[in-house]
Amino acid sequence: MTKSPLRYPGAKKKVLDRFLPFWKKEHIEYRDVFVGGGSTFFGKPLSTLNWINDFDSEVAELYVVMRDQPEELCELIMNTIPTVELWREIKQQEYQTSLEKGFRTFFLNRTNFSGILKGNPIGGINQQSIYKIDCRWNPKALCDQVRNCHRMLQNIRITALDFEEVIQEPGDSVLMYLDPPYYHKGNLLYRVGMSNQDHERLARNLQETNHDFFITYDDCAEVRGLYEDWAYLYPASWFYSSSNKKTREVGKELFISNYPIEEQLEMLLLRT
Ligand SMILES: C[S@@+](CC[C@H](N)C(=O)[O-])C[C@H]1O[C@@H](n2cnc3c(N)ncnc32)[C@H](O)[C@@H]1O
Repeated sequence: MTKSPLRYPGAKKKVLDRFLPFWKKEHIEYRDVFVGGGSTFFGKPLSTLNWINDFDSEVAELYVVMRDQPEELCELIMNTIPTVELWREIKQQEYQTSLEKGFRTFFLNRTNFSGILKGNPIGGINQQSIYKIDCRWNPKALCDQVRNCHRMLQNIRITALDFEEVIQEPGDSVLMYLDPPYYHKGNLLYRVGMSNQDHERLARNLQETNHDFFITYDDCAEVRGLYEDWAYLYPASWFYSSSNKKTREVGKELFISNYPIEEQLEMLLLRT
C-alpha cells in the first residue's frame, strides 16, 4: 500500500480497513473531495478515473508537484536541514512557483506540531522540548514516499475547488469520499475551515446529488440532524494510542453514505 508522506490532522490511515465495505460500491470514477494529507486516496486501490481536491490551494499544489516534479521536490528535501530560522523564513516568504508553494506545505507539515499547517514547530519556537523541529525529517525515507506517490498520481485530476463544484460536476458512475473538517473544532486544525452554513450546504449538496457518496464526520447531534432523515448512518469507534498520555483513548466517528453496505460494521470495529 502506498503511504502518504504527510502527517495530517484527521488522517485516516489507521482506520482504512473499516472503509473496505464502502469501496465495494461499483463505480468508474472516484472523487476524494477533501483530500488533505491523502491517507485515504493513497491507501485505496485506484479506480478507472480518479480526482482529488482540496480547497487549500497549497495542499493541492503539493500533489501537482509530486505528480509533475518529484525529483525537483526531492532535491529540495535532500538539501534542507530544518531549523526555526528556516521555518520562519519559509512560512513568511511570498512564493511564486508551484514547486516553492508545494515545498512550503511539505516542509511545514513535517516540521509543525501534529502536522498542523497553521501551527507552531515541533518543540515550540524556543525548542525546549526533547522533540526538536527536525525529528520528523528523514530526507531519504521522505523522498522514497514522494516517488511512490508520484507513481500513483499519474493521470490523476488535481484541483483546489470548493466542495460544491466537485459534487455538482456530472459524471458516469461516480463514487465520492468526503472527509470534511469536523463540525466541532475542525477549524482549529486547517488553514481552510468550514462554517456551520458550509456544513449545511454540504449536506444539501449531498442530498441532491446523483453520485454515490461516503462521508466521515465527528459523531455529534448537529451532524446527525443533517443526515439521519435520508442517509445511512454507521456509528464507528476504535481505540487509539495518544502520543503524550501513553493511554488508549476511544475515537468516535459517524460513517454516512447514500447506499447501504452489506457487512455489519460493528464486526469491523472489534479489532483495536
Ligand atoms: C479532515 S481534512 C481531510 C483529511 C484527509 N482525509 C486525510 O486523511 O489526511 C479536511 C480538509 O478539507 C479541506 N477543506 C476545507 N474546506 C473545504 C472546502 N470548502 N472544499 C474542499 N476542501 C475543503 C481542508 O483544507 C482540509 O485539508
